[in-house]
Amino acid sequence: MSRLVVVSNRVAVPDAQSATSGGLAVALRDALQSCGGIWFGWSGRTAAHTADEPTIAQVGPVTYATVDLGRKDYNEYYNGFANRTLWPLFHYRLDLADFSHENYQGYRRVNSLFAEKLRPLIEDDDHVWVHDYHLIPLGLELRARGVEQPMGFYLHTPFPAMEVLLALPSHELLVKSLCAYDVLGFQTENDLRAFRDYIHYEVGGDLLDDRTFQAHGRLVRAEVFPIGIEAGQMEAAAERAMELGAARRLDRSLGTRPLMIGVDRLDYSKGIPERFRSFERFLDTYPDHRGQVSMMQIAPLSRSEVPEYKTIRETLEGLAGYINGRYGDFDWMPLHYLTKNFQRETLAGFFRLSRVGVVTPLRDGMNLVAKEYVASQDPNYPGVLVLSRFAGAARELDAALLVNPLDHDGVAAALNKALIMSLDERRERWNAMYARVRENSLERWRERFLTALRAVPTPLAVRSGA
Ligand code: G6P
Repeated sequence: MSRLVVVSNRVAVPDAQSATSGGLAVALRDALQSCGGIWFGWSGRTAAHTADEPTIAQVGPVTYATVDLGRKDYNEYYNGFANRTLWPLFHYRLDLADFSHENYQGYRRVNSLFAEKLRPLIEDDDHVWVHDYHLIPLGLELRARGVEQPMGFYLHTPFPAMEVLLALPSHELLVKSLCAYDVLGFQTENDLRAFRDYIHYEVGGDLLDDRTFQAHGRLVRAEVFPIGIEAGQMEAAAERAMELGAARRLDRSLGTRPLMIGVDRLDYSKGIPERFRSFERFLDTYPDHRGQVSMMQIAPLSRSEVPEYKTIRETLEGLAGYINGRYGDFDWMPLHYLTKNFQRETLAGFFRLSRVGVVTPLRDGMNLVAKEYVASQDPNYPGVLVLSRFAGAARELDAALLVNPLDHDGVAAALNKALIMSLDERRERWNAMYARVRENSLERWRERFLTALRAVPTPLAVRSGA
């Protein structure tokens, strides 16, 4: 089997991974290990200047090639264009998007530099798989350097509706860059439709069938590959966690009181302030639950140097203090708000102990926490998932209580419904969701994408007429 070249903004070099690096990193590493290859990207470190050459670490058949970014590149490419322009735009937050040309130049510069450093490492019959919004122009940059090998791109975030994307000054080049790939993967039908609309109406490309189009002189396959989790591993982790200190302590502290849980990176796309307001509405509207039900929100800090993330943090601190001050009592705290990070296994235990999983992003590519919550439940006594209809996961997990996170009364009613739901209904809904989570595993996602990528003829095959 030919080698695989994976490119992502962050590279999880084994041993150097953080406590939270989980499913995806492992799934990609497994693929690399079975066919050999390279994982290329940012080291996660910054320095005064961007490194001239990547640092190479050979682990078995896999070469990890990582680049330290200089402060300017880090600010303009990562904090700047990727996370202050594309991230809010792709999550429908035009109000938060910043359109600085300087950041855009930084984004182009780092993509071009990555292509420059990666080019000599690519061999003739390699297949290249690029991940996420940080690296959209990479394919075009590699093509400009003579890379004819099959290249795929997977977008982990939503792809915005055409009218939203048009607000981006550089939208044309961005989409042209996407057309440099042979295979494009999206999370949901919605994202694919938005992309095809743009190709049809803006570029005037030909939509040949459901998944193939021709634009910018290239034939491209664009398809939906919803990302999944390894349900069995999460399930086992949840069972193990029940024997561990943290879950046991949480269990003891709860007694018979039900817990609702939210776990998200501290990001405005996750709808955490809206969730807190809905929780407040819930306490107001359903006073019987006061003194009984608590919500635990775990929100590890993320992208802390980006101003919008500082603002959301302050907002949450204010709201949590307000809600606890207003409703809390000497023996009961309604909201437990934590910004610390927990091990995956501990979280699995917390999920299992929580009667309600609250996953209410304003917009999310998929949201794997929703799937992890489902996989962590005790089958005999499962909890209820309250899920935003704007998370990609809502497509598969339609047996959850689907909500509009902006509708505080609606979310409050769903929280109440989740708490009073009969065990029979809980089991019925959970069985339906669990079957979907098991079926669409992370491995299946990876293999479906790689099969599509491997179906693209390599330049060697084309030349030899194979
Ligand atoms: C999202 C993105 C990923 C990113 C992750 C963590 O899930 O789609 O590409 O790695 O957030 O964000 P960070 O900025 O810390 O890499």
